[in-house]
Amino acid sequence: MVQRRSQRFQFDTLEIDRDASQPLHRQLESQLREAIRSGRLRPGEKLPSTRGLCNQLQIARNTVAAAYEQLLAEGYLEAEIGSGTRVSQQLPEQTAPSSVAKKPSPKTSRRGLAKRAEEVDRYADWAPRTITTPLPFRPHTPAIDQFPRDIWQRLADRRIRRLPRLTYLGVDPAGYPPLRSAIAAYLGASRGVACSAEQIIVTSGVQQGLELIARLLLDPGDSFWLEQPGYSPAWHAFTAHGAVGVPVPVDEQGIDVAAGERLCPRPKLAYVTPSVQWPAAVTMSLPRRMQLLEWAEQSDAWIIEDDYVGEFRFAARPQQALAAIDPHGSVIYLGTFSKVLFPGMRLGYLVVPEPLVRAFATSRWLADRHSPVFEQATLTDFIEEGHFARHLRRMRKLYAARQAAMFTALETSFGSAMEFQRNEAGLHVVAKASDSRQNRRLQRAADEAGVEYHLVDQYSASAGKTPGMILGFAAFNEQQIAEAAQAWADRFFA
Ligand SMILES: Cc1ncc(COP(=O)(O)O)c(C=O)c1O
Repeated sequence: MVQRRSQRFQFDTLEIDRDASQPLHRQLESQLREAIRSGRLRPGEKLPSTRGLCNQLQIARNTVAAAYEQLLAEGYLEAEIGSGTRVSQQLPEQTAPSSVAKKPSPKTSRRGLAKRAEEVDRYADWAPRTITTPLPFRPHTPAIDQFPRDIWQRLADRRIRRLPRLTYLGVDPAGYPPLRSAIAAYLGASRGVACSAEQIIVTSGVQQGLELIARLLLDPGDSFWLEQPGYSPAWHAFTAHGAVGVPVPVDEQGIDVAAGERLCPRPKLAYVTPSVQWPAAVTMSLPRRMQLLEWAEQSDAWIIEDDYVGEFRFAARPQQALAAIDPHGSVIYLGTFSKVLFPGMRLGYLVVPEPLVRAFATSRWLADRHSPVFEQATLTDFIEEGHFARHLRRMRKLYAARQAAMFTALETSFGSAMEFQRNEAGLHVVAKASDSRQNRRLQRAADEAGVEYHLVDQYSASAGKTPGMILGFAAFNEQQIAEAAQAWADRFFA
């Protein structure tokens, strides 16, 4: 039967597949978006309340709220206090310039994308076009509500008034010189990395550091080691430049160097996350660090140390970075302000041996010149005037308490049905069902309870074989953590 245009949309026809790998809120969001685009849900039409729709579809209210929030951000829905949520009168397609709306599909045009864009497309879901409010336990998310905005604003105002006019024309592509000095001093004091300001290359975050490394250290066909499971965006950065990745297993001590030597004895570089392995959350042991450093020296390979969260070790003093104990100069160190401050800042840094500085600075200039000077200058003041160290101390305490709350909540709510590691470092926990047959159910229960997570599988070279859910706790207070874990467990045991 053909559906008549005047008929109201039947929300109970929305289909939620609990066995699909796509999270439930994403499924709901794309079905609603499609209904709006196709005209089945018309401008002005009222949507059910989040409570109404969650009851109708038998899913968590958070799931409906997350889908609504995304569509509100994209402009498909509009909300008014007192009158609920409606389909927007003016849809995003109608406001897009016609040249955008009428672009030919890449498949039908010779002017379409290059072949390597297919590989890029695998990450399309990882690169959200709009950011929704994080729900427990979204990983990669620091406590943004704790950032001292008032202090930053005061420093930024002062910088706008005082920054020399000449900097308006640009700064050294390696970074605003006082920021490079402040970072070098910070690294020496807190991560044990002895380096000069000259060795610091300011980047827009770890990701850009990886891009620069790929351009400058890897020729097409060169091989590299990457931890398995490991940080897929690093894999992508290197393979996009024609390098060949070799996944090297991680055990409870970190990357298995002996296995790496068997798999590929002479790679050009090895990418590692020694402080807190992403995603397995183990810390590389000292013997393993020494073995890796020795191997790199013997085989003339670079070690790329991604210290994305090295500041957060709660049980004891932060462990020194690998670069701090490197006697041979084999380590290229990557740091970021994405976790210690916030990811939207887009500032990070590389520490490279002095002979490479010129190439890295020039490559940065060719890529995008340099990071914005006002942000760099404001961050310099934030560090030099002690606000950064103070913020870090506060966050270390806060995250230690949240991590403890997370351990307690998972243990209390799931008991022996769940296993998770207790590395007292980093901002995430990896959990799985004690009975491996229950992993799918554990994931489904999280979807139903509106719990956010990543799968270890997303970071694995052998998809479907590495169970585990990656849970971030940093952005959620102790009550939110306890309630979310309980809601999740209630669904799991129901
Ligand atoms: C392993 C790893 N490296 C680096 C980052 C941060 O990258 P960026 O500095 O580009 O934000 C993350 C998470 O966001 C990560 O998990």
